[in-house]
Amino acid sequence: FSTDVIRNFSIIAHIDHGKSTLADRLLELTGTIDKKQSGKNEQVLDKLKVERERGITVKAQTASMFEEINGKKHLLNLIDTPGHVDFAWEVSRSLAACQGAILLVDASQGIQAQSISVFHVAKDRGVKIIPVLNKIDLPAAQPERIKAQLESTFGIDPSEALYISAKTGEGVADVLKAIVDRVPPPPEPQDISTNAPLKALLFDSFYDRYRGVISLVSIQHGVLQKGDKIMSCHTRKKYEVMEVGIMYPEETPTTALYPGQVGYVACNMKESSEAHIGDTLHRVGEKVEPLAGFKPTKAMVFAGIFPVDASDFLKLEQSIARLTLTDRSVTVQRESSSALGQGCRLGFLGTLHMDVFRQRLEDEYDANIIVTAPTVPYKVVYKDKEIIISNPTDFPDMADSIGKVKEVQEPIVKASIIFPEEHFGEMMDLCYSHRAEDLNHTFLDAGTGAQTRIMLTCIIPLSEIVTDFFDQLKSRSSGFASFDYEDAGYKQSDLAKMVFLLNSKPVDALALVVHRSQQDLIGRAWVKKLHGVLRRQLFEISIQAAVGKKIISRETLSAVRADVTAGLYGGHYERKMKHLQNQKESKKKMKMVGNVELPQEAFFSILGNK
Ligand code: GTP
Repeated sequence: FSTDVIRNFSIIAHIDHGKSTLADRLLELTGTIDKKQSGKNEQVLDKLKVERERGITVKAQTASMFEEINGKKHLLNLIDTPGHVDFAWEVSRSLAACQGAILLVDASQGIQAQSISVFHVAKDRGVKIIPVLNKIDLPAAQPERIKAQLESTFGIDPSEALYISAKTGEGVADVLKAIVDRVPPPPEPQDISTNAPLKALLFDSFYDRYRGVISLVSIQHGVLQKGDKIMSCHTRKKYEVMEVGIMYPEETPTTALYPGQVGYVACNMKESSEAHIGDTLHRVGEKVEPLAGFKPTKAMVFAGIFPVDASDFLKLEQSIARLTLTDRSVTVQRESSSALGQGCRLGFLGTLHMDVFRQRLEDEYDANIIVTAPTVPYKVVYKDKEIIISNPTDFPDMADSIGKVKEVQEPIVKASIIFPEEHFGEMMDLCYSHRAEDLNHTFLDAGTGAQTRIMLTCIIPLSEIVTDFFDQLKSRSSGFASFDYEDAGYKQSDLAKMVFLLNSKPVDALALVVHRSQQDLIGRAWVKKLHGVLRRQLFEISIQAAVGKKIISRETLSAVRADVTAGLYGGHYERKMKHLQNQKESKKKMKMVGNVELPQEAFFSILGNK
């Protein structure tokens, strides 16, 4: 293959705008899959069960196809990108392997928040963008209006836009032609001999039960073939290539991968943590400059995961280990809690990522688990060092650390929200109640006479969007608002650790980091919840929320008089023993905090677990 018949492209779109449907149509049209194979709503490229259930793409999938265009057989490599903000880094890496991107926009919905963020990533990467308006079969489609939006928002020339229906297939052949005509071929390497130094960008990986980790690579220079001894620039680990090939659409072995090609390599890599997205692979003994922009994934949301039954810990840990084989972006650490026993503290890229992982854990491993409230990584600045804290229990008690801690900082993000004008008031409210700052808004379809939509941008603490922000955004806008965010660094903030006490003993698993402006509200609400779920015992229980030495809220659960064995004396010894035995059994499931019994259900209902 010479590089001028190769095109590497991806499809970028907001969730639900039809990316997977279009990918299926392209694979069908080029004969890569047959029609029957791509059954209704069962997109070939969306593989995970949870992806299908939620209708979202979590994991990027890649496929190659061949098509004769302009009288020449071309190799078209589709590099699928995840459609969600949590995976922005993966989007950026997938795009590093492409020269072009189809910007797919639903012609009945118009530009949404994620269309904007993925557009900017693509533009920054300098890839050729082909605007494509989808779903023109829908009566509600307004392609002319959306074209105007594309022009005013992105500066895209309206004459470049294609109209298609990925559902009926209308216009899809023109997309293939546009890819060949408009997207430049991958750059020709300086040295085209087969023994030229190898340089391969690793942009994705997945786990195969038999062959271990399979990496997807884009060959920038040299030729990669079976038997090659290769090495990672990042980990300096060495491997022997067992198999190379292209995704057609499943792994199809070939003799070699040439410059400009995109394909897979199996090299006995044991763990997906070894396959770093953005890493450069080269031959052992050859010196190459790593490709620019390598960045390890950064966990932004943390939560503790504990087994409901403490004796299940090892099983849970194994399940987590097996799941992380296929998802290297999750970080895992052991954690122990006096209230919940042994567990793991996991770090995720974002809240969707966390939900997906948790659902997979529950679905695939039947795991009965308690998940603590999600927390973001806080930064504590001491005189001589900075520490990132991912567990609220480790947050310093500010009153004790006067003079030691200079300040505490929390991660902030730049959020963009797009919604119809009539929801302006509710959206501003939502932002203000979540400590948003620097609010700015612009009108997206000014002057078109159509129902106007607004884009609101603001700076907002990440901790504010990991809880209920997204649900509220959807309910307050009747589902019409879309939302996206990007990392905006850290900011000094007035934060404190809140602990909950039962008869003066702290329940470590419930500790929270809160902003002082919200401490009373949160303290009262949680104490009330605890009061509602605790069982009465033979003595009074005081339930308190405290920040430092200060009690924010307090409730008392009155005692119950229940001497259950009283009536059993006198000859009923066996019955009494049996009763005590039963009580012991049920206590096993009970966590003790000091002398207070804390049932598992209490954690479930307080932490909003199912
Ligand atoms: P993510 O995987 O979450 O990124 O979504 P997606 O962009 O891949 O969307 P998907 O292909 O799953 O399509 C979303 C919905 O739109 C599905 O119900 C499709 O059947 C429907 N759809 C896609 N293309 C068309 C089209 O051209 N016309 C109509 N009417 N519906 C379409």
